[in-house]
Amino acid sequence: MTQLAIIGGTGLTQLSDLKIIKREQLSTPYGSPSAEFVTGELNNSQIIFLARHGNPHTIAPHKINYRANIWGLKQLGVEQIIAVAAVGGITCKMAPAHIAIPDQIIDYSYGRMHTFFEDETVTHIDFTCPYSQKLRSRLISAAAKINIKISPIGTYGCTQGPRLETAAEIQRMERDGCDLVGMTGMPEAALAKELGMDYAAISVVANWAAGKSEGEITMEEIERHLHKGMANTAELLKAFLD
Ligand code: HPA
Repeated sequence: MTQLAIIGGTGLTQLSDLKIIKREQLSTPYGSPSAEFVTGELNNSQIIFLARHGNPHTIAPHKINYRANIWGLKQLGVEQIIAVAAVGGITCKMAPAHIAIPDQIIDYSYGRMHTFFEDETVTHIDFTCPYSQKLRSRLISAAAKINIKISPIGTYGCTQGPRLETAAEIQRMERDGCDLVGMTGMPEAALAKELGMDYAAISVVANWAAGKSEGEITMEEIERHLHKGMANTAELLKAFLD
């Protein structure tokens, strides 16, 4: 059996339909992971769930111990990761509450512990395709099966946060080719690849990115759209496991 993990982001601190089997607190050479690793059954498949921002949600994107999270999952035998994360929508299809399965990343984050390869051996992983094509195809087919409209491609830009972006930063990201903006996609994707794990993301649009709509971006707006997007995400995950 291939062990699958789901990393939940803002709006997905718990998987409500998960039948919990056990909870494990792990220590790693890189420090403490964000939360307990929860093993449970979702749609009759065993999965491991991790709340990226902790449970309750207290860890900001730049403070997340990405290495401990990915190392911990590897230690538990995880081979595939589906990472769920809230994003801002930049290009026209990426309206609030929409779901995208990104295929590319541009990393604008800085100062994060972003590699396991720090010592003796210099190792350069191939990162041409940052996400697993196999997992992405399965997610896209699962969405079609349950009639959820998604974007099957998209470029995810990872910013440092925790503040949201300026309108000019978003304009620059759009010129760069970004469709989505989030704060947690990196180094998570690269670390999974360094450890040889398949990794794909479900990006849930919480708001139009800065300057893409009238007025300020409010937490109230983000929460409202995430609520709807995460309900669809839960259905998508169940269809993926079917
Ligand atoms: N920018 C960055 N990260 C985000 C956003 C955003 O507008 N919305 C949700 N996560």
